[in-house]
Formats: sequence, C-alpha cells, structure tokens
Amino acid sequence: MNKVVISGTGLFTPPEKISNQELVSSFNIWVDQQNSHKKPIPPLQKSSTEFIKKASGVENRYVINKSGILDPNIMKPQVSARKDDEPSIQCEMALNAAEKALAQANINAREVDMILVACSCHQRSYPSIATEVQHFIGAGGFAFDMNMACSSATFALQVAFHAISMGSATRALILNPEITTTHMNFRDRDSHFIFGDACTAIVVEQKNLVTSDNTFKILDTYCRTQFSNNIRNNHGILTHCEPKGGTLDFFRQNGRKVFKEVCPQVIAHITEQLESNHLSASDMKRLWLHQANINMNQRIAKKILNRQPDNQDAPIILDQFANTASAGSIIAFHKHSSDFHSGEKGIICSFGAGYSVGSVLLEKC
Ligand code: COA
Repeated sequence: MNKVVISGTGLFTPPEKISNQELVSSFNIWVDQQNSHKKPIPPLQKSSTEFIKKASGVENRYVINKSGILDPNIMKPQVSARKDDEPSIQCEMALNAAEKALAQANINAREVDMILVACSCHQRSYPSIATEVQHFIGAGGFAFDMNMACSSATFALQVAFHAISMGSATRALILNPEITTTHMNFRDRDSHFIFGDACTAIVVEQKNLVTSDNTFKILDTYCRTQFSNNIRNNHGILTHCEPKGGTLDFFRQNGRKVFKEVCPQVIAHITEQLESNHLSASDMKRLWLHQANINMNQRIAKKILNRQPDNQDAPIILDQFANTASAGSIIAFHKHSSDFHSGEKGIICSFGAGYSVGSVLLEKC
C-alpha cells in the first residue's frame, strides 16, 4: 500500500465580513417592524451580542453577500444567476483555495488525478461542481461531489487516503466550498448568528511523489455515522413538487440536544482511534476540531487531553469565521500547523449532522 501525505492546504474567504453587532442590529430592526406591524403573539424577541458570544464564541463571519443579509427587508444573501459557461460560485471559491494549496504542495493542477468537492450543500445537482473545477484547472483523472455535512472534509480525506493507498489515484485535491449563509434562516433568533462562508482546499499525495518538504503523513482515518433528526436541512429537489406548494425549510437544529449527544460521541471516537493506533492523548500535540461552538470544543478537548486546553492544544478560529461547516477544522489545521516538527502528531476531527464524526490522525514528516 502506498504511503499518503497532506502536502498543501489553501483558504479562501469572501471579502465581506459581518460582526455580531451588525447582525444583531439588523435582526432587531426586523423584530421591531414585525412587532409593530404584524403584532405577533407573543411578540418576537430581540437577539443580543452578549448571548451570541457567550453561547457560541462567534464574533464575526465572512459572507458571500453582506448587504442582502443585513437588509431587514431581505435578510438573505443576494446572489445573481451566472451563465452556464461562467464558473459557478462554489467553483470560483474552490479555484481560489485550490491555487493556494497547489502552490504550497509545489505541484501543477495537471498532476492532480482526483478531485472531491466535499461540503454541506452543493448549489446544483449536476454536473458536479468537482468536474467543473477539474475543467477550469485542467486536471486529469476523475472528480465527484460528496456531502457528509460538517464532516464532509474528513470523510473526503478518508476517501482520498484509501484511493491513493490502493493506487486508484496518485494526487487528490479536496475542496470544501461552504456557502452556509445561503441555507440558513436569518430571521431565526436561535440560529441567525451561527454560520459563515469560506472554502478550504487540501492536496493529498502519494508520499513518494512529493516535492514539498512540508508534509503531514496520514497515519489513520476513522469515520462513523449515527442517524439523528437534531440537525436538518430539508430543502431539496422535491420542495417545489409538494402539492400544497413547498415552503422554504433550511438549516434547523435542536442545539441543546446536539451539544449533549455529540460531545460524548466525539470523545469516544477520538479515544477509540488513539487506542486502535496504540497511542495516547499525550502523544498528540494538537486537536484541530470542528468549529461549531467554543463550549463544545473546550469540553471535548478538556476531556481528551485531561487538562484545560489552550489555543495551542485545540485552536479556536470560529470567533472570526463562525461555523463554516466542513471547512472549520481544515481552517484550524491550515492556520495552526506550521510549528510542527518531524514526528509530532495531531488529529483533525469534525462532527455534525447525520450525526457524523470523522477524524484523521497525522504525523509531521
Ligand atoms: N439572543 C438572545 N437570546 C437568545 C438568542 C439570541 N440570538 N437565541 C436564544 N436565546 C435565548 C433563548 O430564548 C433562551 O432563553 P430562556 O432561557 O429565557 O428560555 C436562552 O437564550 C438559552 O437558549 P438555548 O437555545 O438553550 O441556548 P444554548 O446555550 O443551548 O445555545 C446554541 C444555543 C445553538 C449556541 C448551542 O446550543 C449550540 O451551539 N449547540 C451545538 C450546536 C452545534 O454545534 N450544531 C452543529 C452544527 S454543525
């Protein structure tokens, strides 16, 4: 079996950003409008920056369109349709992140023979965004889209790891173009602050083909799922076929239950992976965790490491990015891995709807 490494990562963030203050101000104007014009019973309640910071840790989020989200009469991103021969918005984000990851890996796009666009929502069913990216960067081989919600990147890493180990691919490019602000309800007080947009890219290569001297060997991947209705997005191609007319039903969750049920699953998952690799938590320099909620991350890291984690143990990036679904743990890795020395180990672990948990055990080469 071929040895497999991560040899490059890239990050694209949209140019526009929304602070909690901006988001809450717009939400509260809308609440005042509703309460004075429609007089709902009970009256709608306002949102607050203090709650958002304390409950989630989020302070800012990058977005693909700020003006539409902040306009109390619109409250969603405004995205114009593009011609079929123009890159789609997810393709465009992916191309930007891919260029940076390929440069870090020191390879040309033509050398890539597998592309996975793995994210929580794809803007269309077909042709796949992955084949569109393959076309625009001039890669060979094959490409396909996959979705395992917030765990899409780690599940894709497992697919790429196995494909390269077995020889059906030699160089894979994983792309996570998350346009999460398009599938959330900015009029829902419980969740309007949670998500942000970003795209990450990961180059995965057969070790003996590598030219970069900055690589992480993939020691093991471990993916598990267990069905749950606590995080759902029902929007799909059947929505417009509903006889009574489809209603828009995007992201929703039972956040309390998610918190309670997912934390122990993730702790057990990482513990099992370490045990099966004859390693212990003290062998890990860092946990690059999914970035949904700061309190979840601290609870998981504390339980695994058996101490209060600091930003070196389990970096937090969600304060500036919010929850970017599958991109979150990869942003944490991208921004917090340059200080690793040969032989040091860490785990990328993501979790989310499904439920799903995916983890990737890495060792700096
Ligand atoms: N502003 C002010 N107050 C708010 C609010 C807002 N935007 N949203 C909710 N509240 C209020 C609620 O009404 C409630 O008030 P009450 O105590 O008077 O009833 C109180 O804050 C607590 O609400 P609750 O929903 O229980 O908050 P929480 O502490 O559970 O935090 C989440 C909510 C969503 C941040 C948290 O549960 C979470 O992040 N869970 C994990 C979700 C997750 O990771 N999902 C994965 C997605 S991939």
